[in-house]
Formats: sequence, structure tokens, C-alpha cells
Amino acid sequence: MQQNIVFSEQALELQAIARKIADEVVRPGAAEHDEKHKYNMEAAKALAAAGLMRTWVPKEHGGHDAGILALSLVAEELAKADSGFGVAFAVNALGSFPIILGGTDEQKARWLPQIAKGEKFVAFCLSEKFAGSDVSGLAVTAVKDGDDYIINGEKKWTTNGGVADIYTVFAVTDPSSKSRRLSAFVVEKGMPGFEIKKIENKMGIRGVPVVETHFDNVRVPASNLIGGREGLGFKHAMMTLDHARPGVAAQAVGASQGALDLANVYANRRVQFKVPLSQHQMVQQMLADMAMKTEAARQMTYAAAAALDEVGPTPKNSKMAAMAKCFASDVAMEVATDAVQIFGGYGFMEDYPIAKFFRDAKILQIYEGTNQIQRIVIARHLIREANELEHLQEFIPVETQETYGAETPEPASTT
Ligand code: CAA
Repeated sequence: MQQNIVFSEQALELQAIARKIADEVVRPGAAEHDEKHKYNMEAAKALAAAGLMRTWVPKEHGGHDAGILALSLVAEELAKADSGFGVAFAVNALGSFPIILGGTDEQKARWLPQIAKGEKFVAFCLSEKFAGSDVSGLAVTAVKDGDDYIINGEKKWTTNGGVADIYTVFAVTDPSSKSRRLSAFVVEKGMPGFEIKKIENKMGIRGVPVVETHFDNVRVPASNLIGGREGLGFKHAMMTLDHARPGVAAQAVGASQGALDLANVYANRRVQFKVPLSQHQMVQQMLADMAMKTEAARQMTYAAAAALDEVGPTPKNSKMAAMAKCFASDVAMEVATDAVQIFGGYGFMEDYPIAKFFRDAKILQIYEGTNQIQRIVIARHLIREANELEHLQEFIPVETQETYGAETPEPASTT
């Protein structure tokens, strides 16, 4: 697929601001925040003060409306300094997308200006203990009661939980329906019955809280039902993930570049057998592979983001977003693993940031859709696209198109 990747002046400005904040406020505090499992509020406030929380918010609601490519450039810079902080930033966009993509005008006007100013942080409550990949299996319920809905149940792995003020929560409103089972609601911090319970003790991205959110008869006004109609939740969740996945890919690109830069500097300083490591061909090969993979991931990420900015959500762009997320996060894990290898024994020590890059990379292959789910999404699109390739049919051996014993071959399955 051909794609123009156009970097607007504004996107490049936002990238430069993000790089400065990453260098001055994020990287210096990364080790301490990781060790203490502490959120970098100073850096978050710096992002808000510099206007970076406006990046993805529409202009009419106080945002820059700079697009997914700009969001990706910012997330990449932050993740290069600290992968955990990359997601701490990007998850605000993830949590806002249901409102931006599916909210009513009144809902957008109510919440988006506060998000744009950085006065309120956002979280996205989709996953549950018994339903992660299988979104249609959610169990949290929202039952209509007069002018309100009553929400009950538990959500798992809410990133930014506790820090966030606004939570977009997916709940079952019609258990009898398959395709219109879910609806999304805005739940605000402090609503009676809404509590942050278990704060997870994580392998990586320790600087951003990931928590269980509990809903015990939480009464929310019907005006908090995103889109104002029941049954749109699954679609809102999928559209949100399509828009957010290039941002995860960008976090992965930043993480790869951060690990590669450290490994590169180390390989040029560390002397073994009387020459720097970078003079040994086996290390050169590793560095070259790390650089190639990182650059390929970057181009794929920018292409996926630019495609969304240019033509909006389409099946092809959903596939591109899944491909970028999957490829870039696999690359981040590989590059971080090789970077640790180049650091040798030092790489295994928590005294140096490279171990953190390794620990942080793993979750990129899991959150916002595991890479197995991304491959399912990609394969389903490919199977559908095969129908557009009918002109190639004449080149396929005829006998492979006939099924012995069956008059009509089964159509290709997409499950
Ligand atoms: N955009 C719009 N609509 C979509 C869509 C998309 N991308 N994908 C599917 N739909 C629609 C379908 O058209 C279908 O609509 P109809 O019923 O009207 O025909 C409906 O949604 C159901 O689609 P599927 O049959 O494809 O659904 P499925 O049950 O097979 O699930 C899935 C598809 C891709 C596996 C999906 O469940 C999925 O993406 N799972 C992964 C969930 C995920 O990413 N979770 C991450 C949690 S968030 C997180 O990690 C945040 C954090 O902490 C940082």
C-alpha cells in the first residue's frame, strides 16, 4: 500500500518539545521512578504545561488536532527516555478516543477541554479478569435506573488508574445481544462506589500505575453513556484500539531506539581483546540488525499513523495499525534482548538502565491487544483481501481449487 507520510510543522514542533522534556525531566528520573514504582508527576505536568496533552484533541475543544502521526512522534520521544512514561502519556489518548470518536457534542464539550489542558488525566477500562483478548466476554454490567445507570463489577489492568480523573469504562448493557452487548461510559474519580483496589506489582513500566478498578453500585448519569445510545461499546472499543495502536507501535520504536543508542555507546567504549566491542564483527552484525529492525518498525508506524490521519478509519488502516503494533513491539523485545547481550554481565544488572529497557519491552507485545490478536486481525483482513485478487485466480493450479467429494468448495473462513 502506498502512503504519503507528511510531517506537519506542528507535528515536528511537538516532537521537539517532547524530546526536550524527555531529556530534561523524563530520562534523569526514570530509574528512580521505576525502582519506587512512582509516577513521574513532574514530567506529566511538564507535558501539560507545554501543551502536549492537546496533541490529539480536536481544535474546537482546545486541542491541537495534530493527528495520530504527531501523537506517535511524541510517544516515541518519551518512550526513548522511559518506556513506562511513554505509555503514561499515550494512555491518555487511548482513554480519550471513545469520547472523541463516539461521544456526543455535549460529551466532547464537557470532558475534552479539561483533557487538552492537562487538568484531567484519563484511563481506559476494558480488560477484566476473565476477558482480556475476548472483548465480547466482558462481565461488568451497567443497568438503567431512571435517568442513571448503575455499574457493577471489576476491571483489570487499568493503566493510569489512580492518577486519572476520567475513566472510559466498557460494560454490558444488553446481555442477550451478541453484537450490541456493550456500551461505554465515563466514570469520574470520586463517584461513590468507584474504587482503585489492587495496585499491580509489575515486571516493567513500573513508573505508571496499573490497577484493578472496582465498581460497587456506581451511579452514573445517563448523560455519561458515550454516544448517548446503548450497544455501541464494542465498535467504540475497536475504533479506539485502531487509533491507539500506532501510538503503541511508536512507544515500541522509542524503546528500540533508546536501547540501541545505549548499546551503541557501550559497544564503542567497552574494550575487549584490545579493541572496542564495535570492532568485533559479531557485535557489528547485532548493531546493524537492531538498527535495520528499528528503522523498519519506525517507517511502518509512521505509515500506519499517517494513513489514519489522511483517510481515517478503514479496514486497511485497521490492518496497518495492527501490523505496526505487532511488528514494532516484537522488534522492541528483540532489540532490547540484543542490547542486554551487548552489555554482557552489566546488562543483567539493575544498576544500569538497559535492564529496564528489557523489562519494559515485554508488555508492548501484550497490551492494547496481544501480538497473537494483532496477527488474527491482520490475517482476517488478508483473507478478505484475497477476494480482491480474483485476477490472479487463473494462475492457481486448477486441481487445488477442487475439493474431492464435495460439489462446492467451502468458502474461506475468517475465524
Ligand atoms: N472497527 C469497527 N468495528 C469493528 C472492528 C473495527 N476495527 N473490528 C470489529 N468490528 C465490528 C465487526 O464489524 C462486528 O460488527 P457486527 O457485529 O455489526 O458485524 C463486531 O465488531 C464484532 O467483530 P468480530 O466478530 O471481529 O469480533 P470478535 O469477537 O471476533 O473480536 C478481536 C475481534 C479483534 C479479537 C477483538 O476482540 C480484539 O481486538 N481483542 C483485543 C482486545 C484488546 O486489544 N484489549 C486490550 C485492552 S486495552 C489495554 O491493554 C490498555 C492498557 O492498559 C494500556
